[in-house]
Amino acid sequence: MKYGMSQCVAVLLISSFPALALSAPSQQEVSYKKDVSQIIHDYCLNCHEPGGKGFETSGLDMRTYQSMMKGTKFGAVIKPGDSFTSIMIQVVEGRVHASIKMPYGMAGGLSKEKIGILKKWVDQGAKDN
Ligand code: HEC
Repeated sequence: MKYGMSQCVAVLLISSFPALALSAPSQQEVSYKKDVSQIIHDYCLNCHEPGGKGFETSGLDMRTYQSMMKGTKFGAVIKPGDSFTSIMIQVVEGRVHASIKMPYGMAGGLSKEKIGILKKWVDQGAKDN
């Protein structure tokens, strides 16, 4: 119901304010430097850098775009263009297993909005933009 309402509003906005629709977040390209790295800094980095629990266990170093794209000691966790099969998205959505939902141990996990930003960035090609 809630979803239907907001969809309605979005359609109205798009049809009556084309210029506004272009600047709506859903149309924008997500930026690694502006959007994604901020989320990682706030929610992931303290564990996913040398000395952190996530890095020591999995090998995933999220300090830079390059180190993040390298993935864990088992391989990549991001598949550009495909958020559904990207492990990084699977773990923030809790799709793998509740015990490895990221951020590890955070009650409730990331907000839907933040997960949406990460997903969109991956689907747009996971660029270093
Ligand atoms: C409190 C510490 C902590 C935080 C914060 C954290 N992680 Fe982790 N992360 C871990 C640990 C520990 C592991 C290893 C889990 C395991 O293999 O059992 C891990 C593993 C991972 C893996 C590899 C999973 C796999 O199947 O190989 C990914 C991807 C990951 N984290 C992404 C993230 C992302 C994205 C964030 C931020 C949204 C994040 N983590 C925040 C501790 C953390």
